[in-house]
Amino acid sequence: MPAILESLGVPYTGSNSVTLALALDKAKTKQILVSEGIPTPSWQLFPTPTTRLNTRLGFPLIVKPNREGSSKGIWRESVVGDEASLRRQVARIYERYHQEVLVEEFVDGTELTVGMIGDDALPILEIDFSPCKGSGEFFYSWRMKEFQGDASLGLAPAFHCPARLDAQMAARVHEMARRAHRALGCADFSRTDIRLRADGTPFVLEVNPLPGLSPLDSNFTAMTTAAGLSHHALIQRIVELATARYSQTSQTARPACAGTTRDDGSVPAQEPASANRLVASPVAP
Ligand SMILES: Nc1ncnc2c1ncn2[C@@H]1O[C@H](COP(=O)(O)OP(=O)(O)OP(=O)(O)O)[C@@H](O)[C@H]1O
Ligand SMILES: [Mg+2]
Repeated sequence: MPAILESLGVPYTGSNSVTLALALDKAKTKQILVSEGIPTPSWQLFPTPTTRLNTRLGFPLIVKPNREGSSKGIWRESVVGDEASLRRQVARIYERYHQEVLVEEFVDGTELTVGMIGDDALPILEIDFSPCKGSGEFFYSWRMKEFQGDASLGLAPAFHCPARLDAQMAARVHEMARRAHRALGCADFSRTDIRLRADGTPFVLEVNPLPGLSPLDSNFTAMTTAAGLSHHALIQRIVELATARYSQTSQTARPACAGTTRDDGSVPAQEPASANRLVASPVAP
């Protein structure tokens, strides 16, 4: 949709099509994070099901589709402790999703997610899976998201917002999310998923430039609620940020579009809008 709106010149809220495409590709996102010095788990992309495992990676590993969301293709069995299980999961993802597979070191620790509105980081949300032990699910798998809150299935994690972190760690995690948001070129809002390893090292898993904003059950709105922001105020803020962004862009873009100076110092008249459209060339006789 953003790509269509861009081609039509229709303003919209949130990140542009380039950021959305980049963030959908987890491996590309990780390359950008690394280039910005933002820690992310070590990984390897499997472009084919028979790609050889780089021995630099240490088990346990997590196997996931490179370009999905909502934990699609992420099951309890996706965390693997040996190469035979890894091969099984890689094959399973190829079969179902027909795309490259991302193999990543599993960060055992605390699950955190951080919402950004403009340059402001929201209170950190911690998702604690310890109440889900009976279900055998121990991280944010597809099943955990699909049936979240169903205590009869043992899929009711505990949410803490703000997260149970000391002030120094909270500031560090906030700064990571802010840097990840900027590195991907996110606009207006985003949500960065982070895992805090047991030794206290935070790692960015991915950046979501289009997180769910449902007032009923989205993690983003759990954070805005904790910040004392109503859903109405959240939407209002997003629209304000986008409006400010568009008015800035049109002010800086206008002189370049309208008046490129010629070598002799004169300014060509502004071309009519139709001049930007593709016009079929006359056929040569
Ligand atoms: N390297 C990792 N170490 C530990 N847990 C991980 C790792 N990668 C993924 N996970 C677990 O799997 C979950 C889903 O992974 P990820 O965020 O990459 O997928 P997604 O489908 O893009 O999610 P979203 O619904 O946020 O778009 C994480 O929230 C986390 O619980
Ligand atoms: Mg995620």
